Amino acid sequence: MDPKVAKADAKHQKLHSQKRKKDSSDRKTGNEIFDKITLETLYKLANQGYIDILNGAISTGKEANVLTGITDNEKFVAVKIYRIATSDFKKMDYYLKGDPRFNIKTKNKRKIIYSWVTKEFKNLTRLYQAGVNVPKPITSANNVLLIEFIGDDDGNPAQPVKNQPPKNPDEFFNKLLVQLKLFVNEAKLVHGDLSNYNILNLNEEPVIIDVSQSVVLDNPISKELLERDINTLVREYSKLGVKTNFDEIWEYVNPKF
Ligand SMILES: Nc1ncnc2c1ncn2[C@@H]1O[C@H](COP(=O)(O)OP(=O)(O)OP(=O)(O)O)[C@@H](O)[C@H]1O
Ligand SMILES: [Mg+2]
Repeated sequence: MDPKVAKADAKHQKLHSQKRKKDSSDRKTGNEIFDKITLETLYKLANQGYIDILNGAISTGKEANVLTGITDNEKFVAVKIYRIATSDFKKMDYYLKGDPRFNIKTKNKRKIIYSWVTKEFKNLTRLYQAGVNVPKPITSANNVLLIEFIGDDDGNPAQPVKNQPPKNPDEFFNKLLVQLKLFVNEAKLVHGDLSNYNILNLNEEPVIIDVSQSVVLDNPISKELLERDINTLVREYSKLGVKTNFDEIWEYVNPKF
C-alpha cells in the first residue's frame, strides 16, 4: 500500500476504533452526528494531520456537538460538529443575509451550514487577531470546526460561567467588559448570543465562545443584538451580585455603528 494511503488508513481505523470503544450513550450520540459526510470530513482532517484521535463529547447541544480531539503531537483540540439534520436554517439565514461577507442565495441546507461554519471560523479569526480572548481557530471543513481546546492539560474542559460562577464576580465582570469592548471596537463584531452559557471560566479568566451568529457592525441588526447582549449581562451579573446597569456598560463599550 502506498505509505500515504496506509497512514490514512491507520488513522481511519483509529478514528473508527475510538468511536467503537465508547459506551452505549456515547454511541447513540455518535450515530447521530457521524453521518457519512461528517465521517469523511473527519477522515480528511485526520489525513491532513489536524486530528489523530477523537475523544469523548464535551457537549451535545441542539445543533452542534463539541468533542475533544487529540493531535499527532498529543495536544488537545476542540472539534465542533454541526448536525445537518437538526440545524435551524431559518436562524442561520437570518444572521447570514445581513452580512456583507456572505452572499447566500441558496436554499441548499448543506451549503447554508457550511457557510455558517465558515462564518464562525472567520469571526473567530477576526476576534483572535483583535486580541479578544476566544479559542484560537485552527481550521474548518464542511460542517466541522477545529478550534483551540479551552481547559487544562489533562483534557478537562473549562466550564461555562453558568455552571462555574467566578469566585470574585466583580473582578471577573470587569475582565469581561474589557473583552466586550475589544469585541465591538477592535473586531467590530457583535456577539448576538452573549450569556454565561457562552463564556467559559478558564481559571477565573473569561473566554468567549460560540460566535457563529456574531455579526459585523455594518449589519443592520447589530445594534439591536448588542442591546440584547448587554441586557443579558446586566441580568446575569446582577444575580451574581455585581452592581451594574445598561447605560454604564454601553458608555464603557462606546460602540460606533
Ligand atoms: N474551545 C472549547 N474548549 C472547550 N470546551 C468548549 C469549546 N468550545 C465549546 N466548548 C463546550 O461546548 C459547549 C457548546 O459549545 P458552543 O456554545 O460553541 O456550541 P452551541 O452552538 O451552543 O451548541 P448548541 O447551540 O447546539 O447547544 C460549550 O458550552 C462548552 O462547554
Ligand atoms: Mg453555546
